[in-house]
Amino acid sequence: MKDKQIIIAIDGHSSTGKSTVAKQLAKALQYIYVDTGAMYRAVTLYAMRKGYIDVSHFDQEELENNLPLISIKFEINAVTGLAEVMLNGENVEKEIRTLAVSKHVSKIAAVSLVRKKLVEQQHQMGKDKGIVMDGRDIGTVVFPNAKLKLFMTATAKDRAERRFLELKERGENVTYEDVLKNVVNRDHIDSTRKDSPLRKAGDAIKIDNSNLTLEQQFEQILQLAKTTIKNA
Ligand code: DC
Repeated sequence: MKDKQIIIAIDGHSSTGKSTVAKQLAKALQYIYVDTGAMYRAVTLYAMRKGYIDVSHFDQEELENNLPLISIKFEINAVTGLAEVMLNGENVEKEIRTLAVSKHVSKIAAVSLVRKKLVEQQHQMGKDKGIVMDGRDIGTVVFPNAKLKLFMTATAKDRAERRFLELKERGENVTYEDVLKNVVNRDHIDSTRKDSPLRKAGDAIKIDNSNLTLEQQFEQILQLAKTTIKNA
């Protein structure tokens, strides 16, 4: 008999490796992986390109009025087998990961109408279960009944170091100080916004991975998932 399909919600602070472990888990369980941060990043890229947001201003009303024109979809990359984000039919997977987008995304993600649009889409994606979804509000708002909820965290310093190396590897010209500032700033905006702030769901399992290797973390989480699926 096929194992029961569940929803696995992974939330936590910026750059805690949520997407890395979510991808590993989805692969091991043959589940679908959804990176909800990519959806907020794609809307942010749209707003930047249209000039609705830059370092000195944010025209929230323009963004809200134009939301119906924004289509966010995922498409599987035939080579990697991973889902990549499409903004109005254009693959923007690389562009949404830049520090420039990271600098504006928390402001865009605090807009209720943006959240409403993307959460509706996320509900659709999870309706057949068999999904690993990562973000900030998955266990609290999007799928409060998810069978397994994880809340990932690590010190800001550890997270900034990891993200800095990742951006450098991708050829971005960034400083460690800039990345640390962005991590701390996003934590602050994501946790203090009015709509769906980042917080640990009461029934989420907290994983502090400051001192865990990727392998240790994956093993721990895979065991949790297997046990939860068995008991579902
Ligand atoms: O996971 P990430 O760093 O790619 O997410 C980018 C931003 O999007 C993050 O700073 C907050 C926002 N976000 C959110 O508000 N809710 C989600 N479910 C996912 C991301």
